[in-house]
Amino acid sequence: MRSLLFVPGDSERKLEKSLTCGADVLLVDLEDSVAIDAKPRARETAAAFLGAAGQHAGRPRLYVRVNALDTGETDADLDAVMRAAPDGIMLPKSISGMDVQHLCAKLAVHEAEHGLADGATRIIVVATETAASVFNLGTYAGASPRLAGLTWGAEDLSADLGSLGNRTADGRYSGPFWLARNLCLFGAVAADVAPVDTVFTNFRDMDGLRAEALEALNDGFTGKMAIHPAQVPVINEVFTPSPDEIAKARRIFEAFAAAGNPGVVGLDGEMLDRPHLRRAEKILARAGSTAGD
Ligand code: COA
Ligand code: MG
Repeated sequence: MRSLLFVPGDSERKLEKSLTCGADVLLVDLEDSVAIDAKPRARETAAAFLGAAGQHAGRPRLYVRVNALDTGETDADLDAVMRAAPDGIMLPKSISGMDVQHLCAKLAVHEAEHGLADGATRIIVVATETAASVFNLGTYAGASPRLAGLTWGAEDLSADLGSLGNRTADGRYSGPFWLARNLCLFGAVAADVAPVDTVFTNFRDMDGLRAEALEALNDGFTGKMAIHPAQVPVINEVFTPSPDEIAKARRIFEAFAAAGNPGVVGLDGEMLDRPHLRRAEKILARAGSTAGD
């Protein structure tokens, strides 16, 4: 999961375009990009799209961003889309691992109703949209085997905090938002799921997007969400390990294997120990499953 593209669930045109833009995951949105009175129609449009797109060979993974659990809209969203068997659900405004378990109970019922395998529907949560949720980023470990990723959001968090903005004059996230981002990274890694960086909303600024994606990659994120198809190739490129990186990781992996997996090996005059091996394994995992979880 390198690139995860949001597509408004009420836009047939954008849904159609999204299928061929190279995103690893589509996030068909029923939440913030759909007006309240457009939601019933968006649910039907999204379900029809999922049903048809699910048949395409080589399609991206299909997730639906439902409305938050406290809106009273979540069940209507799931009633509409679960019959089309999406690969996963994105849960916004998740407060803690308990929200994941709450959603799991709902998904299990829908899976049984539609003859889907129990646990087939994965979950990605947006885990930093309120101040309270930031204190619970350590609660996702063990929440559910359905959990595939954790991501963070700055816009709703900004609204909850009452902050005047979320970036400083030089364009970087200001302190509270950087903290939420970093804790999301720790929470995801602690839960052994994919840490996914948030959207870059200025969709004409490709240099800015690339810089932010590179910083995320450097820190340990394995993918980034997008809001516009033009952002997808940039994100895919940044989060795809280069042939050199893969070759180096493979050499490290093989050096440990050849030596009988000791604590430490020497390679090209450099001392390598277990953290180097774990890093190499993570690069090989990313190289092997760019579209997977
Ligand atoms: N998915 C699929 N197609 C998209 C798209 C998306 N997210 N965003 C734009 N497109 C399509 C447009 O329909 C357009 O195609 P067309 O000319 O054949 O109609 C083409 O890409 C170029 O779009 P462009 O004119 O550059 O942008 P726009 O003004 O039409 O749209 C946004 C700008 C921001 C409204 C749009 O990108 C969007 O809806 N993004 C997703 C927003 C969202 O889901 N937000 C919630 C999460 S934060
Ligand atoms: Mg939002």
